Amino acid sequence: MASELNINITIDVLESEEELTAQEKEALQVAQEAANDAYAPYSNFLVGASLLLEDGSIFRGSNQENAAYPSGLCAERTALFGMSAQYPNKKIKLLAVTARRLSEEKFLPAMPCGACRQVMSEYEHKQQEAIPVILQGPEGTFYRCHSVSDLLPLQFTKDHL
Ligand code: THU
Repeated sequence: MASELNINITIDVLESEEELTAQEKEALQVAQEAANDAYAPYSNFLVGASLLLEDGSIFRGSNQENAAYPSGLCAERTALFGMSAQYPNKKIKLLAVTARRLSEEKFLPAMPCGACRQVMSEYEHKQQEAIPVILQGPEGTFYRCHSVSDLLPLQFTKDHL
């Protein structure tokens, strides 16, 4: 019989905003502000991401769409690439993501797409320190992931090249 690889992933489900730390609240707030500035005229789906850096500053990104659809980029990657281009050596302490529809004020669950998880994973390996991820969950909840690796098991990394 084939053996099994059991992967255990624990993600905290926070029932309300009160359970967030002050830093998580601030990072989510910045992600919400970033979402409001998204350029998403095709999907009308506004995504915001924020990165709390080791010096306490918060870098933000939002999805940027394009008439040539595949040329657009997700919020998580605009934040990560922008941050890394400006501050290549700063460590990320926390990544927050949220989203909303243009037509509604309430923020919605925002689960990073596969390509963004891959990019998040690259920066986690680069800084050799886990990046916790806080995500807007369903019905007023929030998901706290302790590391990007919890969002992307069996990762492809530069060590495989
Ligand atoms: N989007 C993000 O910004 N992040 C994700 O992880 C998933 C999707 C954006 C891309 C596109 O502009 C819009 O959401 C609809 O897919």
